[in-house]
Amino acid sequence: VAEAPPVITLESVWNIAHRGASGSAPESTLFAFELGRRMGADFIELDIQMTGDGHLVVLHDDTVDRTTDGQGPLTRYTLKELKRLDAGSWFNRRHPKKAHPSFQHAQVPTLEEVLLSQGRRVRYCLEIKEGSSAPLLERKLLKTLQRYHLLPQKGRPSPVIIHSFSRETLQRIHRQAPEIPLVQLIHYKDAGYISHRELNRIRRYAWGIGFSYKRMDREDVRRARSHGLRIHPYTVNRKRDMRRLLSWGVDAISTNYPERLNKVLKKE
Ligand code: G3P
Ligand code: CA
Repeated sequence: VAEAPPVITLESVWNIAHRGASGSAPESTLFAFELGRRMGADFIELDIQMTGDGHLVVLHDDTVDRTTDGQGPLTRYTLKELKRLDAGSWFNRRHPKKAHPSFQHAQVPTLEEVLLSQGRRVRYCLEIKEGSSAPLLERKLLKTLQRYHLLPQKGRPSPVIIHSFSRETLQRIHRQAPEIPLVQLIHYKDAGYISHRELNRIRRYAWGIGFSYKRMDREDVRRARSHGLRIHPYTVNRKRDMRRLLSWGVDAISTNYPERLNKVLKKE
């Protein structure tokens, strides 16, 4: 007997603040994460990477150039060196209308700093970037989640979900902690028709699938759902795109503007 499709109401669609409220504060900083939560996001999205001396930090790019006043690959930095960088002034220069003097004190946060500052007031969408040190990063991440009591418990909504473009990463995590909901991200370059066979394969370890919203259509939603997968499009900033995706029945939307999405979802 086929399982009944889940009931989706706009209220139940998850609002994921992409790199925090990164349209309004410097991305991936404590400012952006705090603002994301205050704007009513259900989840804050964090890209997890490792410094040269093995600390888990939150940074999107694999170099520090774009979002700090430093230069070079993250892996060339110790945590101490990274902490000296200014991770907010670039935002003030680039967005003078949204600038705030306090942003110039923003740092690249460690994962633990984010968890300590937000606690259980928000849920966490953790993205593991592809990289050669992924297995070590994954083990450290699972230990941290355990230490902060963030591993899912039966019968309760999971405080974390993990996104990754890397199938190997998701499969390794699934073997170690099968209770964590995992989302297989599909690179926008690979988007397009995904076969039933491939969706079936993804379903063996993942609980959802994330497409670039620009490279998906109603049919992708229908097919992924027919395999029991949730659908998490990224990164949607315009109201008209949000409305279109909601009309197709997606389960979550990742956005730089969580307050805008909540207006569309009427969660305010
Ligand atoms: O949630 C998926 C999204 O975050 C992937 O894109 O490049 O912003 O990490 P990116
Ligand atoms: Ca991400």
